Amino acid sequence: MTDHRPILHITPQRGWLNDPNGLTHRDGTWHVFYQYNPSSPDWGPPHWAHVTSGDLVSWESQPVALSPLGAGSDADGIWSGCVVDDQGTPTAVYTGVRSLGPDRWEPHVCLARGDASMETWTRDPANPVLSSLPHGGATVGFRDPWVWRERDEWAMVMGTGIEGVGGALALYRSKDLRTWRYEGVPLQRDEREREPVWTGRMWECPQLAPLGDQHVLVVSVWDDRSARTLNYPVAAIGRFDGLRFEVERWRRFDHGPDCYAPAFLIDAGRVLAWGWSWEALSDQARREQGWASCLTFPRELGILPDGDLMITPAPELESARRDHVVLASKPLSAEQRPLPATGRCLEIESEFALGPAGQVRLEVLRSPDGEETTSIAYDAGRSILSLDRTQASVWGEASGGVHEARLPLDPDGRLRLRVLVDTSIVEVFANDRVVMTARVYPTRPDSVGTAVSGSPGTRLVAGAAWRLAAGSD
Ligand code: FRU
Repeated sequence: MTDHRPILHITPQRGWLNDPNGLTHRDGTWHVFYQYNPSSPDWGPPHWAHVTSGDLVSWESQPVALSPLGAGSDADGIWSGCVVDDQGTPTAVYTGVRSLGPDRWEPHVCLARGDASMETWTRDPANPVLSSLPHGGATVGFRDPWVWRERDEWAMVMGTGIEGVGGALALYRSKDLRTWRYEGVPLQRDEREREPVWTGRMWECPQLAPLGDQHVLVVSVWDDRSARTLNYPVAAIGRFDGLRFEVERWRRFDHGPDCYAPAFLIDAGRVLAWGWSWEALSDQARREQGWASCLTFPRELGILPDGDLMITPAPELESARRDHVVLASKPLSAEQRPLPATGRCLEIESEFALGPAGQVRLEVLRSPDGEETTSIAYDAGRSILSLDRTQASVWGEASGGVHEARLPLDPDGRLRLRVLVDTSIVEVFANDRVVMTARVYPTRPDSVGTAVSGSPGTRLVAGAAWRLAAGSD
């Protein structure tokens, strides 16, 4: 069986990974924690696994940071949360849960203090520091603390939902991280609203950061009445005045099928985000694989000139580029023409010129006869970017489908794509504005090709490709 484990993305050696947590840059080291079940490639009592990096490209496993111990307010799971610097002491603020029976959990906000290397963690004797909303209003979930420092206080938002209304945030402030004062609901949204994006019944993993002179909020849309309970992450750009978040625009954070629960790392004014990319396999195939899920590559966020969210691969990833190949400028035709770039772990940067109704297509992980291929296409007439994995794999256990994102072109009529491929994960960044993540599982040893095509009058204006590798590889 083909090995589908990504080479550069963070994966668990065995067992299950979900949300990234507690992302920190400290003394020159990047720390990533993630939701981890060491015992099986299924979701199960979450631990916090820990990996570190000096360059955001090579990652080293560290001992598991936090494990549920069967007693106390986090007896049955260390669910998602963040890490803050409390006067020099790394402090994890996380959701501790106790089981109340099958699929019923009692959530608590808990604290643990780390040593300087963040390898050893000690629970705060004050745990739990918060257990539910103060008012009697019926809520749908209460979890995933996101904490930041203000002048002389801590502020925290929790993910929640208001029964019959929809996803919401609950806001708190504290002097010492232990005693929290409820400050109301800075934002909620009607679950019946569909445009420009549906935001569901409850919000998981809220992440809030200043960006330019605005704020960005990312939440993950949870709804147990939808086809899959975990839907997708959304972003709101707007202004947070300390009590209320005034939304200027809602949008999807990632338009692909396989990104959820992104978490931020705010470092020296930059906002980086990692997401959880689950397997797009049948349960049985995932179990046979023995490990499940990876994190996305880190992405850097910003604000585009028109006020929309900018999303690009973190610039540090450029240090993984090897064997630079120039992609010559050329007119495109309906015939698929191979590009001089092959491999399972590569980056392609390309710029296309399209007329008002032009269509272009870039294929990766393609077998020479096209039996297996993952294709990224843009249709200027419809302003739609699509990621098509219906033919990505001949293996019946892998998910297919065509996934679309609306992407009007800038006035220059150019489409700029950066496509990062790593074995079974494809991340497509278009015009620094739209990102799509999908997991794909080509099986043929020769499914390593790349190709371009386009309708008459379209052109590949410029491009480059690299093999991606870590360290001295
Ligand atoms: C999101 C989530 C979080 C929760 C964690 C549990 O994927 O459901 O809301 O804290 O996963 O693993």
